[in-house]
Amino acid sequence: MFLIDTHAHLFLEQFDDDRDQTVQNAIDNGVKKIFLPDIDSSTTALVLEMAKKYPDICFPMIGLHPTSVKENFKDELKHVEYMLEKEKYYGIGETGIDLYWDKTFLKEQIEVFRFQINLAKKTALPLIIHARESFDEIFSIIDELNDDTLKGIFHSFTGNKAQARKILSYKGFKIGIGGIVTFKNSKLPEVVKEIGLEHLVLETDSPYLAPTPKRGKRNESAYLLFIAEKIAEIYNVDLQTVANITTKNAEVLFGL
Ligand code: NI
Repeated sequence: MFLIDTHAHLFLEQFDDDRDQTVQNAIDNGVKKIFLPDIDSSTTALVLEMAKKYPDICFPMIGLHPTSVKENFKDELKHVEYMLEKEKYYGIGETGIDLYWDKTFLKEQIEVFRFQINLAKKTALPLIIHARESFDEIFSIIDELNDDTLKGIFHSFTGNKAQARKILSYKGFKIGIGGIVTFKNSKLPEVVKEIGLEHLVLETDSPYLAPTPKRGKRNESAYLLFIAEKIAEIYNVDLQTVANITTKNAEVLFGL
C-alpha cells in the first residue's frame, strides 16, 4: 500500500513530543509521502527542518495562509518570494480566502491570493487552495487568472456538486478529500461519488479534522488510511485501487 498525504501540518507544536513516532506511524500505515503546507513566516523554518530530516517522505511547500493575512502581508509575500529563490519547494500554499474566521482583511486576502496564483504560474508549482465560505470569491479570481499552466488542489473540499464541477472545469485542479468525508451525516460522500476517483487526492490536514473513528482527537497522517477506506466504500472498489489512483494523481501534480 502506498498512500500520499497531500496536506499535513506535522511541523506544528501539537507534534513536538512525538514527531518521529508520527512519521513512523504514517509509514507503518502505508502513508509514505507527506506534503507540508506552510502557514506564514513563523512556520517556514519548521517546515524546512522537517523536510530535511525526512527527505523522500516529507515535502515542503511555501505560502501565506489566508488567516495569517494581516497588516504586514507585503513583508510576508516578500518572504515567500525570497524563500522560493533559496530552497526547493513542491507547492505554493497554503493560500486562498477564509471568510469564516474573520472578514477584516478580505481585500488583502484577495490581493495575497492573486499574488500567489501568479507565483504558482511563474514557478510552475501547484497551488494549494484553502476555501472557507469563499467559493464565489475564489472562482471569480480563478476565472480571471486561470491558464494552461495553473494547477493545484482545492484542499479539504466540502462543497456541493456544482462547486465540484466548477473546479473540474479548471483542467489543472484536483480535489483534496479529508476526514470530513467519514463524518456521520456528511453530505460529502454523495458529492465525491460524482467527482470520480481520477480527480481526487487524499489529505489529513493534521492536526485538524481527524476522521472517524478518531474524530475529535489530534489528527495524524497515519489516519489517512481511514479516509482511503471510506473512499473505497463510496466507489465500491478495493483499497488498493484507491491507493493506486490517488497516489498517481498526487505524483503527477507534484511532479515526483
Ligand atoms: Ni491546512
